[in-house]
Amino acid sequence: MILEIIKYPDPFLKTHAARVESVDDSVRKLIDDMIETMYYARGIGLASVQVGDPRQVVVLDVPDEDENERAKGKNLMALVNPEIVSTEGETLYEEGCLSVPGVTADVERAARVKVRALDRDGKPFEIEADGLLAIALQHELDHLSGVLFIDRLSRLKRELVKRKYKKSLETEERAI
Ligand code: NI
Repeated sequence: MILEIIKYPDPFLKTHAARVESVDDSVRKLIDDMIETMYYARGIGLASVQVGDPRQVVVLDVPDEDENERAKGKNLMALVNPEIVSTEGETLYEEGCLSVPGVTADVERAARVKVRALDRDGKPFEIEADGLLAIALQHELDHLSGVLFIDRLSRLKRELVKRKYKKSLETEERAI
């Protein structure tokens, strides 16, 4: 089932998601719906908070850097109760977000991360990532704490991006 993606400035995006006590069928259904929604929206990642669910779930399908056409499903992963174990280095990347459509901005992140999570069967696993996957992991985990990429910008830059976003929303309303 394709879910509705909540858009900024909906206050639900500030939700701190709760840890999943047991990975049961209702969590697996959420994972499946989120994967379907992510592909439908042509995203590379999606967090539960973005579809109005307050449980800690993230799905990702980040293309390899040498990939032109995205091989759908190749790097698909679901993370329940994900947490960052360690980070290393710094990187800058132009990010966008399905909940803040139409705008992008350079965001500073750690260059490498190690993340611990449960898979769809409730089994713990660890992933070490760099490149776009490391950025996407940090972006999606932020969503579970109610943080958007625009919250990570300087105040001046954030105001600029917000103004641009508001303008694009108004244009969208007038579109047929
Ligand atoms: Ni996002």
